[in-house]
Amino acid sequence: MDTQLKNRKIVLGVTGGIAAYKACTLCRLLVKGGAQVYVVMTESATKLVGKETFEALSGHSVSVNIFEDSKDISHIALSNDADMIVVAPATANSIAKFAHGFADNMLCAVMLAANCKKVIAPAMNTNMYHNVATQENLQLLALRGMYILSPDSGDLACGTSGDGRMKEPEEIYEDILAIFSQDLEKLPHTKIGIENHQEKLPAPQQILELTQTKLLPKSFGAGFNVLITAGPTIEEIDPVRYITNHSSGKMGYALAHMAQLMGANVTLISGPVNLNVPLGVKRISVRSAVEMLNAVESYVNEADIFIGCAAVGDFRVESINKNKIKKKDGEEGLTLKLVQNPDIIATVGNREANRPFTVGFAAETDNLEENAKKKIVKKGLDMVILNDVSNKSIGFNSDDNEVSVYDKDGLVAHIEKQNKQVVATSLLELIFNAAKK
Ligand code: C5P
Repeated sequence: MDTQLKNRKIVLGVTGGIAAYKACTLCRLLVKGGAQVYVVMTESATKLVGKETFEALSGHSVSVNIFEDSKDISHIALSNDADMIVVAPATANSIAKFAHGFADNMLCAVMLAANCKKVIAPAMNTNMYHNVATQENLQLLALRGMYILSPDSGDLACGTSGDGRMKEPEEIYEDILAIFSQDLEKLPHTKIGIENHQEKLPAPQQILELTQTKLLPKSFGAGFNVLITAGPTIEEIDPVRYITNHSSGKMGYALAHMAQLMGANVTLISGPVNLNVPLGVKRISVRSAVEMLNAVESYVNEADIFIGCAAVGDFRVESINKNKIKKKDGEEGLTLKLVQNPDIIATVGNREANRPFTVGFAAETDNLEENAKKKIVKKGLDMVILNDVSNKSIGFNSDDNEVSVYDKDGLVAHIEKQNKQVVATSLLELIFNAAKK
């Protein structure tokens, strides 16, 4: 019995791929682990494994058709009660249906009606898996917060070898436990729905590139509380004027989004930006550096990892004018006295107690390694991520970034120019692994 599965109701969706036979092992493992398992099969899956097999393994009747099976358990009952739906194997056809909201069989209807955690283990021929249509569909599902358990590479039922082989049942089982361990119910879940459909997707060619590399979430981040600062800060001068910078927040938001998809519990403290809150992420909106520091201090005790991605203004005006500053006859200009803002990341990095694994960003043009090491010491960082600001096609406001990662011993990795979400995923893999040590 695994505690994560105690009193859990899991719908196991089985679609018509040869790997359906492996779902029998998964079903057994889940039942043995203490879950109540309800199997829903597609019509074609029943051609590969008999309903009766899953009925014997799960101890419950198996649903296939919406109408014929109404005497057993309805799709609404299944979708209301389930803690998780796991579709293993998930064929390209079923993935396409899930992505586009079809409800023409029991499994699709349950997927559409349910508001629980959803896990998809694709299994198909390599070309079908790499087809842009499948990759875009998986991308859509991942962006909506579903967990995609990327298939392995290996021998396939069609006689070829390549990507598309369903993860082994034992691995899927471990992933399910990891997902439950996060206890996502505690998160202030953004509703899965309209809001997220408006999220901007990268252009099709990029999607293919993303999903082929590392975008599809793995559960590296499960169990971590991650606190991220993002965006610019705004320092008011008077009621109508302020000092700010060009930060768009895209890198910090990509980190928050990907960390959440990788299973972490993410709080994002953000200056004013024009971006949607990533699904499942808790966002705290702030304006000034002092407000950002206060917000960080109220969340940092619970954080295992702190990533300072915000472009925090180094200065603020000494005192904000209550009224709009007027031009004065005879005076040529205006002198504002600026004072230094607190260094947020240094405050976190140099904490004596409850210090999270601390990661900073730095924009440098020369002496990269030397400057990185200096920053690590001065700010008390575990890791620093260097943006090459001499290259105009990356950094501020761009969708791409190229970075070098340093720790106290020197260069850890260089991440080539790519979409910020892919860069975020690579960075998080390094951060989660280093924070585990
Ligand atoms: O000192 P510099 O601005 O180059 O350092 C950049 C790093 O420090 C970034 O991670 C940024 O988020 C963080 N920072 C901060 N508070 C400041 C200034 C920078 O947290 N006041």
